[in-house]
Amino acid sequence: MKYNQVEPSIDKDDINNVTEYLNSGSWITEHNKTRELEDEIKSLVNRKYASAVPNGTIALYLSLLGFGLENKKIAVPNITMIATINSILWANSVPVLIDTDENLCMSYEELIKFNDLDAVLFVPLNGRTGDGEKIQKWCADNEIIFIEDSAHSLGSSYENSYCGGLGDASVLSFTPHKIITMGQGGMVLSNNSKAHDYITKLKTFNRSKDKVDWHEGFGLNFKITDLQAVLGLSQFSKLNRFIENKKQNYLHYKNYIENDDVEVMSFNKKEVPWFFDIKVKSLDLKNEIVNKLKSEGIETRGLYPALSKQNYLSKYKSDNLDNSENIFNKILWLPSSNNLKENDIKIISSAINSAKII
Ligand SMILES: Cc1ncc(COP(=O)(O)O)c(C=O)c1O
Repeated sequence: MKYNQVEPSIDKDDINNVTEYLNSGSWITEHNKTRELEDEIKSLVNRKYASAVPNGTIALYLSLLGFGLENKKIAVPNITMIATINSILWANSVPVLIDTDENLCMSYEELIKFNDLDAVLFVPLNGRTGDGEKIQKWCADNEIIFIEDSAHSLGSSYENSYCGGLGDASVLSFTPHKIITMGQGGMVLSNNSKAHDYITKLKTFNRSKDKVDWHEGFGLNFKITDLQAVLGLSQFSKLNRFIENKKQNYLHYKNYIENDDVEVMSFNKKEVPWFFDIKVKSLDLKNEIVNKLKSEGIETRGLYPALSKQNYLSKYKSDNLDNSENIFNKILWLPSSNNLKENDIKIISSAINSAKII
């Protein structure tokens, strides 16, 4: 038996929906199905505007452009997937690395030490919301733009808002290991008509009118395809099931892992676990677990290394990044797909329980 750390969850309905669409004689490229997907997601997360784009990285980049964040100073948590900081660099802005808290999210206490920021790019990492709402309020009070990278977090909620619905703009991603997938895909969500119009122009060659080759200015092609949107809609119709399944599997891991040196990291009731993570007492034990699981065909993944540890980003390193730099040695992501059943989790947990340092 082999357990992948992640894999897409595609069923017969997904296949039938895509096949039916292809048989319908449609033009395949971005059109009504994409608008339907944008409408579904924006109403779920309570936003006025949504723009589907080819991936989350482009969504981040366009969200920064939409809010005039070129050549600016933008705070970013020191633990996140590389696309978050690369979107800042792509926009010719300067990233300011902020240490993380026990939720692996940007630390409020560390952030507020900075008084020269133009924007904050907050990441509810792995579905955990941390101090997101507190940070958003601080940003609003200080006229700092708040952008939310919710690539991991469709379905999770803060106390008062949905992930995807907090601050000036939010970004989602739909790669195969995300909460729902359409192969690749991303979305920018906001309540700002000016930003939305600008993003729409940028993603559609800035045409003055559809089907006409006069252009109001610079623009590119960041459209998706209705073929993808059909899969996205099909997956979206199962979102509640996926969420319940993730929550149930988290409880199974909590129940079956009984190694005193391993802590199953917790989620509150409003958060949807994207990946199931464990905190292990020592690096040696972490390595032991990785190897033991590997020998039984069980794949794991380490947490993202701190951005400040990436060579090409070392010039952005500053003091006070200890939490985020050290936690990498202790955290491991376990198999987390929606295809896992209770018995699979029992088997994986029992391998973890038998790992020890002699
Ligand atoms: C936090 C975060 N932001 C952005 C991205 C980029 O999304 P994409 O892979 O769709 O470009 C990812 C991808 O995994 C991510 O994890």
